[in-house]
Amino acid sequence: LSTTDVDLAPVAEGQSITVVWRGKPVFVRHRTAEEIKAAEAVPVGELRDPQTDQSRVKPGKDQWLIVVGICTHLGCVPLGQKQTDPRGPFGGWFCPCHGSAYDTSGRIRQGPAPLNLAVPTYAFTGDTKIRIG
Ligand code: FES
Repeated sequence: LSTTDVDLAPVAEGQSITVVWRGKPVFVRHRTAEEIKAAEAVPVGELRDPQTDQSRVKPGKDQWLIVVGICTHLGCVPLGQKQTDPRGPFGGWFCPCHGSAYDTSGRIRQGPAPLNLAVPTYAFTGDTKIRIG
């Protein structure tokens, strides 16, 4: 399938789910207010792959972060989808392969990965529904 429809309604604040799109894992996180605040507070100039948090989410929907769950170093699947997973020092995801740490916007903050976790093409098709692809 070239598109994947996801119902976000069952995903409570603070929870994440993993869906599959074109054979790849896609991380969907319902961010908390603290996670959003932390992501927005980072000066973009400090980032290896400079992107604002705002540019990585949809307007008015900044509680929903949708990223491809593949480390941009050598392609491992980072940890952080379960609340009990290690999320690394920046609170997003942590790649156990070589120690890349991503923040609550999925941006690379530490370790060898060169780029932020990719935001796939997607659109809201309802208040709590998205179509990826
Ligand atoms: Fe993730 Fe190397 S594949 S740090």
